[in-house]
Amino acid sequence: MDILRLRGPAGEAPRIDPEIRRAALIITAGGLVAFPTETVYGLGADAFNPAALAKVFAVKGRPRFDPLIIHLAGREDLGLAADCGALSPKAQEQADVLCRTLWPGPLTLILPKVPAIPDLATSGLPTVAVRVPAHPIAQALIRFSTRAVAAPSANPFGYLSPTTAEHVREQLGSRVDMIIDGGPAGVGVESTVLDLTTDPPRILRPGGVPQERIEALIGPTAVGDAPAGVSASPGQLPSHYAPQVPLILHDAGEIPIPYSPAAAYLFFDPPSRDRRLERWGIASAQGNPRIRVLSDNGTLTEAAANLFTILHDLDTLPIAAIHAERVPAEGLGNAVNDRLTRAGSRRYCGRPGPASAE
Ligand code: TXA
Ligand code: MG
Repeated sequence: MDILRLRGPAGEAPRIDPEIRRAALIITAGGLVAFPTETVYGLGADAFNPAALAKVFAVKGRPRFDPLIIHLAGREDLGLAADCGALSPKAQEQADVLCRTLWPGPLTLILPKVPAIPDLATSGLPTVAVRVPAHPIAQALIRFSTRAVAAPSANPFGYLSPTTAEHVREQLGSRVDMIIDGGPAGVGVESTVLDLTTDPPRILRPGGVPQERIEALIGPTAVGDAPAGVSASPGQLPSHYAPQVPLILHDAGEIPIPYSPAAAYLFFDPPSRDRRLERWGIASAQGNPRIRVLSDNGTLTEAAANLFTILHDLDTLPIAAIHAERVPAEGLGNAVNDRLTRAGSRRYCGRPGPASAE
């Protein structure tokens, strides 16, 4: 067991304390542990244990047609979940480049599955989603438990993804056996899901690794819904990642002119907010929890990191709607706009009960 190979986001050696070993034992025994990753918090279970996987679906209220991502501690463990030999030679090369360059990190690859992974994890698909998270706690948990941990985001199905342990506590609470608090998730949006079983490879979900970065390594990719007959990413339902309050999405600069004190407003950056404040005749948004920006410094990295946390905050206010504007459609902005679009695609939904769909 090579603890020194673990590295934190800032390069520091992680603290492998007894709590993580205790959490690992819970996973090995078939329990559920919520844990931090660099993207969002995950709800982890032994990837080889169908009973544990069934609990994940039940606790999240997640439909069984929506497969889980298998988390590994390093690319050397890829064979535990995926059979890269079943890919075309070109796709094998692409997988190799991507694993070597972008793992650990927020990239999930769809690859041919090995029989040891239960059908429940993959919803019966012949493919499996695999990623190596870049968080020292996640890596230690996986390494000290079953080396392959199935983990969806630790939220009730359809609701906002959790970026803090507190979000998990609020949403799933006593339904999980343990929550590991590793502080706020750094990236803030989920991993990019890339299907390598199609030619060209297809981005099924925009996420923490921008399309531009992937294409610089392996060439052109397709984006979005798979054509009929090809395995789609079921998590890409039109309505997803949604707050309780209706969210109305506008193009940049198009947040409505009549100001409503019953609404909350979410801008990309301070200049864009200030232009609207001027039109509204409001001198300052300071201290107003209903008027927020995704990024104080106008970067998409910060916007992604803040997205779910701010939506969680706004969702606790007594408001009738959230008006949000799109962010620039480049780099991480595509993942942010994807989540905002899905958050806005149902006008009203109650916060889903944790066990609702099972
Ligand atoms: O950043 C992340 O990916 C987080 C953290 C916890 O790692 N996890 C996460 O998991 O977002 P989840 O379950 O919320 O989303 C998994 C996505 C879904 O859109 C699912 O449909 C897709 O991956 N997926 C899983 N297996 C697939 C497969 N075999 N083919 C196509 N899509 C798949
Ligand atoms: Mg999710």
